[in-house]
Amino acid sequence: MAAYKDKVIWITGASSGIGEALALDFAKRGARLILSARRESELKRVGDSTKLPELDLMLLPFDLNNTSNASALAAQVINKFGRIDILINNGGYSQRSEVMKTSEEIDRQLMEVNYFSYVNLTKAVLPYMKRQKTGHVVVISSIAGKFGFFLRSSYSAAKHALHGFFESMRLETEQFGIKTLIVCPGKVKTNVSNNAVTADGSKHNEMDPSHENAMSSEECAAEIIKGISGNKEEILIGGKEILIVYIRRFFPRLFRKIIRKQSPY
Ligand SMILES: NC(=O)c1ccc[n+]([C@@H]2O[C@H](COP(=O)([O-])OP(=O)(O)OC[C@H]3O[C@@H](n4cnc5c(N)ncnc54)[C@H](OP(=O)(O)O)[C@@H]3O)[C@@H](O)[C@H]2O)c1
Repeated sequence: MAAYKDKVIWITGASSGIGEALALDFAKRGARLILSARRESELKRVGDSTKLPELDLMLLPFDLNNTSNASALAAQVINKFGRIDILINNGGYSQRSEVMKTSEEIDRQLMEVNYFSYVNLTKAVLPYMKRQKTGHVVVISSIAGKFGFFLRSSYSAAKHALHGFFESMRLETEQFGIKTLIVCPGKVKTNVSNNAVTADGSKHNEMDPSHENAMSSEECAAEIIKGISGNKEEILIGGKEILIVYIRRFFPRLFRKIIRKQSPY
């Protein structure tokens, strides 16, 4: 618990699901929080439920679709807290659309929100972490960052891209005391499938059956915090669905058979 007392932690996607659960858990551990997402009313709801005093809480709403102002956002955090100990790049959305029906615009937006925003925010925060000689960057990827899957082409591509970028960054920045954790959740019971984009740009608006009985966001948050505390470089979180990552690694032919039989939902 004491490990996070007074630590300054910036969480994106904090208005729901995994980000919200992380905010509540870190608040109980005595952290000081910056909560980001688009919906201010939901950020306020989460902020209120952390019960943190104003001194230890900042609501910083913005759209991950445009993070060209990332340096200014990081400067706002520094103005209030003087440091950033942990950045958790978590905000994003999934996809439920076929390659041949998905427009370039939707492909590019999925990359912008799920990949480029993580890059921009992290680059804005790194100089402060370097100056502090300590910091932790956490990146929420997915098992879709480990293999491609039906209806998730650009989402999976963005998640794969995170691994390439942040594994490279880890090698370059660990000399400054900066740690990088890549988190690959399997299925977590959140609104992620409801909020997934379809081929016409609207929301999927359904909870996939595979998410109904999945791990809770609270359990997922606890596993992420365990991964940060244990200085892990990469963790897989979820139920039996994460076994497929090991099957792919050790039995690639079996993986190719199994993956084709899975429901996209
Ligand atoms: N749940 C799973 O099974 C699962 C599995 C693997 C990976 N993940 C990853 O986990 C992360 C969190 O997802 P979740 O499951 O907690 O889903 P969620 O409940 O839908 O939460 C997504 C969060 O991202 C924010 N967000 C989405 N688009 C945004 C944008 N353009 N600008 C700013 N914020 C945006 C949302 O806030 P606003 O709508 O208020 O902006 C919300 O706070 C995502 O990166 C997702 O890919 C989830």
